[in-house]
Amino acid sequence: MSSLNGLSEKNSERLLFYTELVNNELEKYRQAVFNNIGEEKNAAEAMWYSLSAGGKRIRPVLVLEFCRMCGGDDKSALPAACAIEMIHTFSLIHDDLPCMDNDDLRRGKPSCHKAYGEVNALLAGDALENLAFGVIAESESLSDTQKVRLIRTLSKATGISGMIGGQVIDTEYEGKPLPEELLLKMYGMKTGALLRAACEMGCICGGGDDEKIKSAGDYGENLGLAFQIIDDILDIAGSDEKLGKPTGSDAVNGKVTYASLNGVESSAEFASTLSEKALNALDLFEDPVFLKELTMCLLKRDC
Ligand code: IPE
Ligand code: IPE
Ligand code: MG
Ligand code: MG
Ligand code: MG
Repeated sequence: MSSLNGLSEKNSERLLFYTELVNNELEKYRQAVFNNIGEEKNAAEAMWYSLSAGGKRIRPVLVLEFCRMCGGDDKSALPAACAIEMIHTFSLIHDDLPCMDNDDLRRGKPSCHKAYGEVNALLAGDALENLAFGVIAESESLSDTQKVRLIRTLSKATGISGMIGGQVIDTEYEGKPLPEELLLKMYGMKTGALLRAACEMGCICGGGDDEKIKSAGDYGENLGLAFQIIDDILDIAGSDEKLGKPTGSDAVNGKVTYASLNGVESSAEFASTLSEKALNALDLFEDPVFLKELTMCLLKRDC
């Protein structure tokens, strides 16, 4: 499983606490689904194969931490935290399919379609997307108003004007020139939208006001751009082993990336500027120490 190095002992304990909380909760959802399973079992196994393969769990951690920073408890944020990880995992399963990036390795294991076949991978992705909204709707620790707001936020971030729309632009421009402005817009959609939503959803769970939700969104948006730029750098300069996914995939697929346009060094500088911008948006929050450290750690990550 990918891990993040460079956090202080106290903050790596908090990161571990959050990821274990999320992993245990995801396991409860698995049991609930498998208690009631029939012939559809293969696709359900494919869902949890990818969900439990590891991953940094950054999006759920953001949900939990923004909820805490708004005065809420972990319990209120857990369903939304798991929901966004389900959406993210669905996006990765589909992203790896032969008709998309055609990558055979994910989270250190054979990609979902390699392990379960294309049909099961496609349907497992679809089912994870649906389960995400169900998990929020059925949460016992949120008010109906919070649930509607969470579902609206997640739906917008996932759909055609968010992650999926970004993936459309990403694939349509394979092998074609992609102007930097459109490239950054696409990053904001395919990666930024879900990271933004994670931060906003944390505030919604914790009862944060509109000003806090807006600042959290600004943080998530800048973090998202930096995150994708670093992902692109790692695709050029990282190792398959540490990343748990194939490097060189972008070049093979003819993708224009920020790093291929501007070079690794100036891309790293831009990612650093974006991370600084993200940090500025945290000024409104009382205790942002963990998040500030995590942000810098993500900037320097090698996974
Ligand atoms: C990978 O996301 C896809 C991008 C948006 C770049 P992560 O780097 O968060 O992947 P996992 O969840 O740790 O596997
Ligand atoms: C992330 O872009 C796109 C998603 C929304 C899943 P990439 O295609 O670069 O992600 P990786 O590198 O395969 O994780
Ligand atoms: Mg892709
Ligand atoms: Mg990919
Ligand atoms: Mg990538």
